[in-house]
Amino acid sequence: MALNYKESKLVKETIPALRQHGEHISTVFYKTMLRDHPELHNYFNTVNMHTGKQPKALTQLILAFASNIVNISELVPKLERVAQKHASLNIQPEHYEIVGKYLLRAFSAVLGPAMTPDVKMAWTKAYWVMAKMLTGREVHLYREFEEWKGWRKFMIYSKKNETIEGNIVSFLLKPVDGKPLPTFMPGQYITLRLTVPGMKYAQLRQYSLSDAPSYDHYRITVKRDQGSNWDYAGGDDAMTVSSAATSASDSSIGSVHPGRPGVVSNSLIDEFHEGDSIELTHPAGAFSLNTNMDNSMPLVLISAGVCVAPLMAMLNTLVEKRINRPVSWIQASRHDAPFRAEVEAIAKRHPNMRTKFFRSRLSDSDVLSYTSSFDDDFLSLTPDDLYLSNSSTDFYVTGPELFLTQAASHLSKQGVKKERVHFEIFSVGSFEVKMA
Ligand SMILES: Cc1cc2nc3c(=O)[nH]c(=O)nc-3n(C[C@H](O)[C@H](O)[C@H](O)COP(=O)(O)OP(=O)(O)OC[C@H]3O[C@@H](n4cnc5c(N)ncnc54)[C@H](O)[C@@H]3O)c2cc1C
Ligand code: HEM
Repeated sequence: MALNYKESKLVKETIPALRQHGEHISTVFYKTMLRDHPELHNYFNTVNMHTGKQPKALTQLILAFASNIVNISELVPKLERVAQKHASLNIQPEHYEIVGKYLLRAFSAVLGPAMTPDVKMAWTKAYWVMAKMLTGREVHLYREFEEWKGWRKFMIYSKKNETIEGNIVSFLLKPVDGKPLPTFMPGQYITLRLTVPGMKYAQLRQYSLSDAPSYDHYRITVKRDQGSNWDYAGGDDAMTVSSAATSASDSSIGSVHPGRPGVVSNSLIDEFHEGDSIELTHPAGAFSLNTNMDNSMPLVLISAGVCVAPLMAMLNTLVEKRINRPVSWIQASRHDAPFRAEVEAIAKRHPNMRTKFFRSRLSDSDVLSYTSSFDDDFLSLTPDDLYLSNSSTDFYVTGPELFLTQAASHLSKQGVKKERVHFEIFSVGSFEVKMA
């Protein structure tokens, strides 16, 4: 199935033109695919489609793959993230036929006469090499999920405010079938599916599991998206795609515009109560801490806002399994830090754990709080806070893009190697780490 020299050359020769028209491809591809297969709206995050983040992520990965066709190993971490996301969304091998058909049509539309039968054949082959890699991994993951296939019903057992403001709420979820829950790697997430009034299609969102694995419940922690979080917009560039992607057929999807409150988070917090049921897929995700291996190296857990959730699962798992790694907990937060009391209680019982809490300097009403600079916070960290004397220290960092960029830059300046740092972003598309 691998591409021969001639096919690989044909593919590579067309990459510059495809790159140049990447956004056009994304728009044409998704618009035509969703027009002919509206049922796929039930899988795609409406906002990520409108902002263009999702189409862009897919097209960029395919082009990166085609440019690296002889050295695919470099793309393995990215492919793993995608396969895990697809598995969490219950994407099936037959979906690849549809995506391939519309993607190649969009390539043809952009390349025009340059899409000769030979070039088309070469691109078809390239697409399927990648599709086979993804489906191969996804089938393997589905096998690991055992009898939990697709959506499983859970009941909201309890709800708890994690901040005084009530904008971050934890949900304890128990499976309705009463059967034991599988374990997961702390750091992983579930996909939650809701039917929201006024929205024509199912709304799927990922939420990190925020507590150690348990046989009878999972915990997720949800932040109310008030609608001013421009982090999701991805800049002017993304907005261009957004308006282009807003086709006539989209008007039936429901309210999708910048600034409107988040659909799923607000619905969950305001309209879902103890005893109500929701649906989840099996835990998945490439961002995870392996707590099964013997490891006594220090661990630095750095987070901002609600992105603390997967790190809380890591911390609680370490405590539950009595793993004695030195831990440094660094948490930035605009309001009261969620889980602060829980973390401080753990630190009190564990002498080799240290904590540092930062509070944003901007006022509550300032909508730019989440994009404010964290540089001063990072500069105030001591070498001991980051266990810099040990070159085997592992770093897990979660937060909005700017926070991650500044964390990466700070750690890089401190001499921390890229391989030791793991990032998670609560959005689509992997965070490009700029570290030495
Ligand atoms: C791996 C992963 C883990 C996650 N874990 C967590 C977690 O533990 N806790 C948590 O709270 N969240 C988590 N998230 C985020 C979560 O999945 C949702 O994205 C979040 O809850 C917002 O969803 P929503 O439906 O409320 O908002 P949406 O309805 O999706 O809206 C999001 C934002 O987009 C804006 N918007 C709407 N339309 C447009 C448009 N056309 N153009 C530009 N902007 C627009 C809205 O104003 C809003 O601010 C995670 C995400 C991922 C990918
Ligand atoms: C070779 C083919 C494919 C490639 C290269 C690809 C690539 C990607 C990428 C890069 C992401 C973003 C992952 C992240 O960082 O979170 C993604 C997410 C996603 N993919 Fe695919 N994909 C492919 C096939 C498919 C197919 C066949 C489907 C099913 C219709 C699909 C549905 C989705 C969905 C629903 C998401 C999540 C979108 C969101 O949350 O906004 N993909 N894919």
